[in-house]
Amino acid sequence: MSEAIHPSSRPKSVPDPLFITLEGIEGCGKSLQAQLLGEELQRLEIPFIATREPGGTSFGIEVRQILLSRDGAPRSPLSELLLYLADRYQDLQERIEPALRFGRHVICDRYHDATMAYQGHARGIGFETIDRLAEILQLRTPDLTLVLDIDIETGVQRARQRQVGTQEDLMSRFEREELQFHRKVLQGYRLLQEREPDRLQFVDASGTPEEVFARIRAIASRIGLFHAKPPSCHAEAQRRREAEEGR
Ligand code: TMP
Repeated sequence: MSEAIHPSSRPKSVPDPLFITLEGIEGCGKSLQAQLLGEELQRLEIPFIATREPGGTSFGIEVRQILLSRDGAPRSPLSELLLYLADRYQDLQERIEPALRFGRHVICDRYHDATMAYQGHARGIGFETIDRLAEILQLRTPDLTLVLDIDIETGVQRARQRQVGTQEDLMSRFEREELQFHRKVLQGYRLLQEREPDRLQFVDASGTPEEVFARIRAIASRIGLFHAKPPSCHAEAQRRREAEEGR
């Protein structure tokens, strides 16, 4: 990790690091797109971290096993909700907030909108209860949320093509739930988009991964993800210059 940079020492032209999340129903291809976004940032030497929920931290990996294990014990929607929030709180404290403080962008594969769409809407807990919990936990709001938009049938098809057989394989997740559940998840994301039309952007996720990535890249570029390097980059460049000059 590089050193912390005091906000007041940042040059005016340097934008704040961005917190970008990717969302969508099962099989929408968001994990691959998160990976492509990371590869692009790496290619451009722009500092960032990638995380995922559930499972971005060591604690989160344990929580993910409980949440997504195929033969997991029965639990109530509220108990499940609290586990997703526990995973998120840890991810924020341990990875997301420190990265943003150090001037790194954060790319997160699923975040709080998943909780709103899955637990809030599809499982019927309601947005209000989750809003209250989010406020108590002071959960950070992303700068941009990309919702990969595909129909349920394509999601099922893509999930079938994926390798099966792990403890939490995607196809089994589809089969455990009625198609109606996945429709409700998608509807949940649409309701969230109505609440925050600027932050949540639906991306047509049909076509090849490259075609989808071109759409994502254009949106991310508009909010400045690739325009200028965040502060730690400048500090790094300065360090290199000083080393070259033998200071
Ligand atoms: P992923 O592996 O596709 O990212 O998603 C993990 C699963 O967890 C997926 O079925 C969606 C579900 N999920 C929730 O139900 N609520 C949440 O808050 C999150 C982050 C994921």
